[in-house]
Amino acid sequence: MKTECLKIPILDFLEIEKKYGKEKALESLKKNDAIIKAASALKNGKLVAFPTETVYGLGALAFLKEAVENIFKVKSRPLDNPLILHLGSLECLDKWIAYLTKDALKLIEVFWPGPLTLILKHKGNLPSFVTSGLDTVGIRMPDNLVALSILQLVDSLIAAPSANVSGRPSPTLASHVLEDLNGKVDIILDSGPTKLGLESTVIDVTTEKVCLLRPGFITVEEIEEVLQKKVFVDEAFFKDTKHELKLIAPGLKYKHYAPLADMYLFFCSFENLQQIIDKEKSLGKKIGVLLTSNNKCRVEADVYVYYDLDDIGNPLSISRNLYACFRKFDFFKVDVIYAQGFSEKGIYFTIMNRLKKAANYKIIR
Ligand code: TXA
Ligand code: MG
Repeated sequence: MKTECLKIPILDFLEIEKKYGKEKALESLKKNDAIIKAASALKNGKLVAFPTETVYGLGALAFLKEAVENIFKVKSRPLDNPLILHLGSLECLDKWIAYLTKDALKLIEVFWPGPLTLILKHKGNLPSFVTSGLDTVGIRMPDNLVALSILQLVDSLIAAPSANVSGRPSPTLASHVLEDLNGKVDIILDSGPTKLGLESTVIDVTTEKVCLLRPGFITVEEIEEVLQKKVFVDEAFFKDTKHELKLIAPGLKYKHYAPLADMYLFFCSFENLQQIIDKEKSLGKKIGVLLTSNNKCRVEADVYVYYDLDDIGNPLSISRNLYACFRKFDFFKVDVIYAQGFSEKGIYFTIMNRLKKAANYKIIR
């Protein structure tokens, strides 16, 4: 199969949004040739990778069995890891969702469209190949013009996990999708880098006890502020070992977000780190370090990658850039990566969740 990469001149549409509002921008996008082609490909059971505000998603129409099965196949995704569904308007929620708690309604009002996936009880009329047979489903409305215009054109639910091969870092550029899935998807819509760079927060709102299932761009603190109550966060999230996490959400038991090289998270002094690096180098290993740019000259290695480009210490720029950093190390073919660790507050909790997984919980204290 030949993968077609179609560019969307997103700046033009953002300009329309700025001048005339979102509805007008969506209307014009729905007349764009690439968007029309992608929507019709989806309706015909094809796979289309498209941008969202978090990461690029690999989409299939949720009700087409073969297309959804194809997602699992091309990503090599384990079948017991359910897909999240994307919707373009709230009206269709009633058709599939059994009930919405007060908390769910509040979160929808404040955070949709946006990077928050809600786990809800479905009515039993969603295909089991998309829910992995569970009585709940993950669903969100993305805050991205391209994604929304396609969702509105197909007028259905789109199942879309991140458009990477399972275990690899999620794609924040169309070229990342191409790296992983060239020849395996029909169309990639390219509208440049995604705005946020980290996946959506996944939260279970099926009962009164609201539980975090995956940290994401929206923080627990922001959710608690809206709900005016505590969100349950399993303490396994704060631990340095992985086995405790596997029961919380189906996807959490798998290795994730990882660069190809062996990665370690470090909290030790730069002097100690230098000793470790020197020892590895003496064994002929090519060493990469991942640092914030204010730590630029603190350690000597073969390859330097900076979390934050030139925005010193800005966590939003770290979020946006994190997965591209991992892929840079792949490009430079390093053997070992030492990545600076952070304290786990606010958005750094999510950044650390991804870093721990990428390092497979190898941590130097
Ligand atoms: O930002 C995002 O969420 C991106 C973009 C493309 O929307 N999508 C994404 O999807 O990250 P995916 O499939 O890579 O991650 C969805 C997560 C997985 O960890 C999965 O296990 C969990 O949501 N999940 C899905 N359905 C679930 C359910 N019914 N119960 C518990 N967890 C569920
Ligand atoms: Mg994923």
